[in-house]
Amino acid sequence: MMLISGDTDRQVDFTDEELNAFVTAVNARFGLDFTDYERKSLRRGLGRLMTRYGFGNLMEVWAKMLQDRSVIIKYVDELMVNLTELFRNPDAWQAVRNEVLPVFEKKESLKIWHAGCSTGEEVYSMAIVLRQKNMQDKTSLIATDLSSQALVEAKEAVYNNMLWERYRINFLKYDPMAAVQMPNFFVREEKHFTITDALKKRITFLRHNLVHEEPIGPCDIIFCRNVMIYFDENLKMKVIKKFHSALRDGGYLIIGYYDITPEAFKLLFEPVNASARIYRKISTVRRVSDL
Ligand SMILES: C[S@@+](CC[C@H](N)C(=O)[O-])C[C@H]1O[C@@H](n2cnc3c(N)ncnc32)[C@H](O)[C@@H]1O
Repeated sequence: MMLISGDTDRQVDFTDEELNAFVTAVNARFGLDFTDYERKSLRRGLGRLMTRYGFGNLMEVWAKMLQDRSVIIKYVDELMVNLTELFRNPDAWQAVRNEVLPVFEKKESLKIWHAGCSTGEEVYSMAIVLRQKNMQDKTSLIATDLSSQALVEAKEAVYNNMLWERYRINFLKYDPMAAVQMPNFFVREEKHFTITDALKKRITFLRHNLVHEEPIGPCDIIFCRNVMIYFDENLKMKVIKKFHSALRDGGYLIIGYYDITPEAFKLLFEPVNASARIYRKISTVRRVSDL
């Protein structure tokens, strides 16, 4: 049993068995699959959620979810704060490599914005894909986040070895043939692993508030994965319009698996690969401000 201290003095506890039963039940009942989530982060997120909403155990959380479905999105948000991974959703990265990058292969330069980059894993995944495609040297990657602490960690790119196994599995799901390339990307040490300097060289990290500041443009590709989950419909639309204006014609927007878009999203973006959450800018829209 592990005790978790959250935002308040109250402590919550649950066993691994309880956690597994909870994850299985949430997946079966609501189709939200946290089975593969890093257990430590999941525990931390659940601990935070339970202290914030005053739950003493996971049964109470489950009962509330059954009683009032509307709380679920709020709870998912709480679980996902800052959560990120290398090659999160490996099939989406395969789609980026196979369906998006070929469009830009002949272009002289490429600009990619990672909005809400957290501790950097997403932008380093992109750097790996670009390197594999021999497109790294012509690409500028701008990685932004609201959290200064996350940005410090992103720039350092030193990750605890406890994350290694999960990241390695993601990487090999993305590219099963690439095991031999791993030493080009990661340096393993006793307690942690780091990202090689070769991958860092085209990346600029900036503190930037997606909601209040001008977007970073003009871009060819924008990643904004698992950030809008924290926003209400109005805020989502505001940010989506910013992405539309920041993208060049034919530019791509890549969002997260749990991001639910407002109705008007489809007037601005068309799906390229809906299951990988990859969309293309519709350039013919006249009055974006009216949407
Ligand atoms: C769950 S993480 C997503 C990380 C990464 N994109 C991924 O999918 O793996 C969400 C990130 O969004 C950032 N964020 C939340 N609101 C933001 C805002 N208004 N402007 C910029 N970043 C924001 C948080 O600081 C956090 O690092």
